[in-house]
Amino acid sequence: MRIHLIAAARPNFMKIAPLYHALKKEDWAEPVIVHTGQHYDLNMSDVFFHDLGLPAPDIHLGVGSGSHAQQTGQVMMAYEKILVEKQPDLVVVVGDVNSTMAATLAAVKLGIKVAHLEAGLRSFDRTMPEEINRLVTDALADILWTPSPDGDENLMREGVAPERIQRVGNIMIDSLEMLRDKIEQQTAAKEIGVTHGEYVMVTLHRPSNVDNPKILTSLCEMLCRISRKIPMVFPVHPRTRKNLEKSSLMSLVAENPGLHLLEPLNYIRFMNLVFNCRFVITDSGGIQEETTYLGIPCLTLRPNTERPVTVTQGTNRLCKMEELEKNALMVLAEKNRKANKIDLWDGKTASRVVEAIRGKR
Ligand code: UD1
Repeated sequence: MRIHLIAAARPNFMKIAPLYHALKKEDWAEPVIVHTGQHYDLNMSDVFFHDLGLPAPDIHLGVGSGSHAQQTGQVMMAYEKILVEKQPDLVVVVGDVNSTMAATLAAVKLGIKVAHLEAGLRSFDRTMPEEINRLVTDALADILWTPSPDGDENLMREGVAPERIQRVGNIMIDSLEMLRDKIEQQTAAKEIGVTHGEYVMVTLHRPSNVDNPKILTSLCEMLCRISRKIPMVFPVHPRTRKNLEKSSLMSLVAENPGLHLLEPLNYIRFMNLVFNCRFVITDSGGIQEETTYLGIPCLTLRPNTERPVTVTQGTNRLCKMEELEKNALMVLAEKNRKANKIDLWDGKTASRVVEAIRGKR
């Protein structure tokens, strides 16, 4: 059975890796990695393949950056040719990036089966590009693998037939557990010059936070103020770096002694810094889940989340930008909240997915 695994952007790589490794052990399965090229920098893509033990992609579409329509259209055009030529039996798409939706559209129009891993998540905010990608992908994919019960409920409410839905758990936890030893062996905090439990990890890349210069300026000023109370480690995403440079904010943040600005980090080093931090400030989707799993407080700079279990059962708190400083001080004053265990976030999602595919052969 030829199975295409679509990888496109940084948050996809840790979702396909455990599945690739699990399928590779099966004699009936031929996993094929298709990289669309949405993320192409060495430190946004190649280092993840290395950390996660993935071989170089079997197929590279080389699409790169562009507007939403350009990126989506180019992935569809390039992938359609591959689909016609290679005729996979199943296409597995993960997450919610433009390439997830584009690969789904290209495949279903050729009558090729698509499975969506991380289906059913909804922020109910259609100004988020990812929400559009989720809605389209889930409407079209044949098989919907969800990480948590809210995913099942969202899909049922949208009229999806129950037989298309299967709850398999959170595949990102598989990557974390697969690499736990290597993550724990790193000494990243020491090398940066911060102390375990006494620094904050920061990541920001959402267009709604970093594309508007006014919002980005306020955020930077606030981070600078918080960094006088507790040092911060801030690996800067390419989108954010471009905007910091464009709005001449780079020197404000770079010259602040409490703010350690870094290039984007590889998976193992980044997770090592998360493991050992006091708390996280982020607008990422995946980090909300990783911090919940690890029991580390997380302030999410967004008005909503498509991952509500991280708030109701985990350590995540949604935070308005103007309340960031107040919330950061509050978290600093607290003892660590211990996360509840979330059902099926156990490092065994890849084997459940393999069993699901085996059953559909
Ligand atoms: C994309 C995903 C987002 C995901 C994020 C993780 C969509 C709509 N968005 O957003 O869901 O959370 O990836 O990082 O699919 N760039 C580089 N090098 C790269 C990749 C991008 O310099 O390797 C630059 C691009 O030129 C562009 C900017 O970063 O200017 C944004 O890249 P893009 O892929 O459009 O979206 P992300 O913001 O990364």
